[in-house]
Amino acid sequence: MLRLEARCRNAIEAPEFIMALLDILQYPDPRLHKIAQPVAKVDEGVRAIVADLFETMYAAKGVGLAATQVDIHLRIIVVDTSEQRDQPMVLINPEIVQRSAECKEWEEGCLSLPGIYDKVTRPDRIRVRALDGRGERFEIDADGLLSVCVQHEMDHLDGKVFVDHLSALKRNRIKVRMRKRQREAEPA
Ligand code: NI
Repeated sequence: MLRLEARCRNAIEAPEFIMALLDILQYPDPRLHKIAQPVAKVDEGVRAIVADLFETMYAAKGVGLAATQVDIHLRIIVVDTSEQRDQPMVLINPEIVQRSAECKEWEEGCLSLPGIYDKVTRPDRIRVRALDGRGERFEIDADGLLSVCVQHEMDHLDGKVFVDHLSALKRNRIKVRMRKRQREAEPA
């Protein structure tokens, strides 16, 4: 299968980097709305960021993470939608080159808004072009959770969080809830 092959090609084969857990920005942090810049060259520095993104995503039990969420404003996302959590995929400078006319509604959540879930409608199937961890170009056809996840993470690179797809009323309610929670978490 195309999808499976793409995932295997993408796996990080040499985890020789010293990895670090990064802090995930929490909504409504304004830095979540910055537009990420394209990666000019996939070098060691970029691969170190990718390794940290994977470590942070797995530790937080997420299925995807965008560099934007850790305050690195480069067009890099990592995803792993497999049950076994053993199919890491990195997409650098991802671009959607095709999207299906049919849309599907999914309940989405985000590591920048823990505990908040809501329904978002997006194209059901997409074809994405990106660079892998070696800087080689590849394309994948995604559907189901992988499609949702890639679109959700790519939104982050454009400064968009999934609640930006909801009504202003819902979004404001979520903002209030998040701010309240953040105040409560602050040491007195
Ligand atoms: Ni997210």
